[in-house]
Amino acid sequence: MKTPKNHILVIFGASGDLTYRKLVPAVFDLYEKKFLPNNFAILGLGRTELSDNQFRDKMKEGIEKFALKKIDEHLKVKISDFLDKLFYYAFNTDEEREYAGFKDKLLGLDKDLGTNNNFIFYLATPPSMYTTIPCHLAKYGLNSEDEGFSRLIVEKPFGYDLETAKTLNDSLFRNFREKQIYRIDHYLGKETVQNLLVTRFSNAIFEPLWNRNYVSHVEITSAESIGVGSRGGYYEGSGALRDMVQNHLLLLAGLTAMEPPALIDSNSIRNEIVKVLQSIRPIKEEEVDKYVIRGQYIASSVKGEKVKGYREEQGVDPESRTETYVAMKFFIDNMRWGGVPFYIRTGKMLPTRVTEVVIHFKPTPHHLFLSHAAITQQQNQLVIRIQPDEGLLLKFGMKVPGSGFNVQNVNMDFHYTDLADVYLPSAYERLLHDCMLGDSTLYSRGDAVEAAWKFVKPIQDAWANNKGSKVHGYPAGSWGPDIADELIEGSDLTWRYPCKNLANDGNYCEL
Ligand code: BG6
Repeated sequence: MKTPKNHILVIFGASGDLTYRKLVPAVFDLYEKKFLPNNFAILGLGRTELSDNQFRDKMKEGIEKFALKKIDEHLKVKISDFLDKLFYYAFNTDEEREYAGFKDKLLGLDKDLGTNNNFIFYLATPPSMYTTIPCHLAKYGLNSEDEGFSRLIVEKPFGYDLETAKTLNDSLFRNFREKQIYRIDHYLGKETVQNLLVTRFSNAIFEPLWNRNYVSHVEITSAESIGVGSRGGYYEGSGALRDMVQNHLLLLAGLTAMEPPALIDSNSIRNEIVKVLQSIRPIKEEEVDKYVIRGQYIASSVKGEKVKGYREEQGVDPESRTETYVAMKFFIDNMRWGGVPFYIRTGKMLPTRVTEVVIHFKPTPHHLFLSHAAITQQQNQLVIRIQPDEGLLLKFGMKVPGSGFNVQNVNMDFHYTDLADVYLPSAYERLLHDCMLGDSTLYSRGDAVEAAWKFVKPIQDAWANNKGSKVHGYPAGSWGPDIADELIEGSDLTWRYPCKNLANDGNYCEL
């Protein structure tokens, strides 16, 4: 494992939840595994006045709650050593002239700690600051790589639509080069998402079949069993299309469908992902209702417990038409996938939490055994389980022992947990480490982000312009609007339902 160069990780928005729950615990996990350089510090920034010690106390709590390792006595000593590397500086990050004081603080630390002018700036702030902060950093020369490195990590959401994403890219490019910009999509940091590439490109039994000749359709699901909780205010302005489809699900589609890259490096892999995103057939505004189903969870009862509907959540408009569920069908117009439908689906308050990619293979050209028994010809499926219970499941037909040729579908199931000493790093741990090493392979490139926004634009336009476009109510705890089944063509085909519907009541309806 390579060790990053000495550096300081500067976190804007350090008094916020992301720093507390994800970033600092992930950096601690890296520290604990000795993946950090000798000379390293975190400099937290924010408007809230905090001393170094107050910041350290808060982060200690975050590490104890959210780091992956179980905290024992030995680890407590390590936490206390790690906390010495944390510093805090309060200032108004909006105000250009206040960057002079911040720069003095940063360069002072750099000198004291010997971090060689290497800085990573992490924007864990509200998106409204994504243009301001890089601009002010540049004014003070902190974008320069003359003496060390200067990298910028930008959290999602990267824009609100195509227009704003382009404006944001343009604004970043005025001060930073693409090579310095790391747009985070935590799905790419998931171990099993990366394993998609290994499954495809290192197994002779899969790669030759991975195309229109053998695959009937591809299904990608990211289901959540929780609602919007306290994030209602944010979610109202976002909805599932922006929150999950434009980024996470389209990237999963990109990785599933891409051509083998020439090399395993950042540009080669990201070039192939962009090509897929650019080849997705645009859905015309007038056809959106045919190809895209949106839904919103309504009150129901699950296992005897009453569950709130989306409109009753804190911060949500009681007449909201924001979608908490999206299912869609699209085609990738290229040589490999011509004519193969891709179905993607995501939703909140579904019966379980699961993210998976399912490759449905075509049936054999001749149904030799069909006449021998009351079985329906089942298609082979390869299920790539991204989370939880990460692993691979292959479904295929076997002869039922005894007379005749009765065929039964059976499973070959691999679970990551079966690997000895398995340790799946958190997505943030992996991505932060990559950025420290200067590897942007698992970060979204500007052109990919724009291609994804370009694809969702007519959907956003159709929903905004056509007030009559339907939002389907689905009972919390169900698998979403039942009409989504109609997207999948074929009389005996449906979505894969990894577990049963949990909603005991509540009516499917139009909102
Ligand atoms: C985030 C979304 O990007 O991803 C959340 O903003 C969503 O709404 C989350 O819950 C899902 O991530 P994961 O890793 O739990 O699948």
